[in-house]
Amino acid sequence: MENPNKQEKRLDNEYQKKIIERKKKFLEDFKTENSVFDKKTQLALFGLLNANHVDEYLGIINSGKESIVFLAVKDNKYCAVKVYRVSTCDFKTMWKYIQGDPRFHLRKSSTRQIIHAWVDKEYRNLLRANKYVNSSKAILKRDNVMLMELVGDGDIPAPRLKDYNGDIDYSKLYNTIVEDLKILYNDAQIVHGDLSEYNILIKDNEPVYIDFSQGVVIQHPLSKSLLIRDIKNVCNYFIKKGVSCNYKELFKYITGEELRPIEEELAIGY
Ligand SMILES: Nc1ncnc2c1ncn2[C@@H]1O[C@H](COP(=O)(O)OP(=O)(O)OP(=O)(O)O)[C@@H](O)[C@H]1O
Ligand SMILES: [Mg+2]
Repeated sequence: MENPNKQEKRLDNEYQKKIIERKKKFLEDFKTENSVFDKKTQLALFGLLNANHVDEYLGIINSGKESIVFLAVKDNKYCAVKVYRVSTCDFKTMWKYIQGDPRFHLRKSSTRQIIHAWVDKEYRNLLRANKYVNSSKAILKRDNVMLMELVGDGDIPAPRLKDYNGDIDYSKLYNTIVEDLKILYNDAQIVHGDLSEYNILIKDNEPVYIDFSQGVVIQHPLSKSLLIRDIKNVCNYFIKKGVSCNYKELFKYITGEELRPIEEELAIGY
């Protein structure tokens, strides 16, 4: 039998070797994509790997204007890593959302502080949402990166409602979404802020909410306007699917208040 000390050393060496190989692979993979990722993004991704929050990156789920979402694996569980692109963010709009949020006390600050507050905001919104509704589970955030559980089947990400082409009872789905919106507003006390068929995934015929970066607490001066916009998006989608809905009635059902025209007008500017 191998001497226990020797065995430990051998396993240690094997482990080190594995880590070095993984990092080498990461650097090679990402060298070819250099033009797509800025240095900060590469560093942030590498940081998660280095700190063992992620074992390996498996590919890109989505590459948008303001963020890239990677598929990764940790301890055989799949996760989604959302990296905010610092270079293309709209800091002016971000600032408007952060400014009225009592959870943040930033004075006019650097773009770096704004993006960190933005990521922190999405992370905190997700943690709140996770307690109340079916939403992508937040794991951690670091600099301009957020780690979440993958919503999907194995390593296949769940489709967005917009792309979903399975059999689904739209009327039932609508009712679930309405109840979730009510819970988010009254119990979690947040408004999603960017709700539409693009930010709802479908898993096991149920909605799973993602992308809470524009979410605000209900105390935020824009919360009602953002809620109106969310509700209108939901209504417009479901009307096309043959479900009858009226956004004013829905607003009243969710908030218990009449919709005020001034808040509806404000919603158009955002
Ligand atoms: N936890 C998750 N599980 C599975 N897929 C996810 C997850 N998070 C995000 N995605 C996928 O990545 C896409 C983009 O994520 P998200 O909506 O959070 O970012 P975004 O900033 O809106 O991106 P874009 O700039 O393209 O609008 C989603 O539409 C979804 O397909
Ligand atoms: Mg989105």
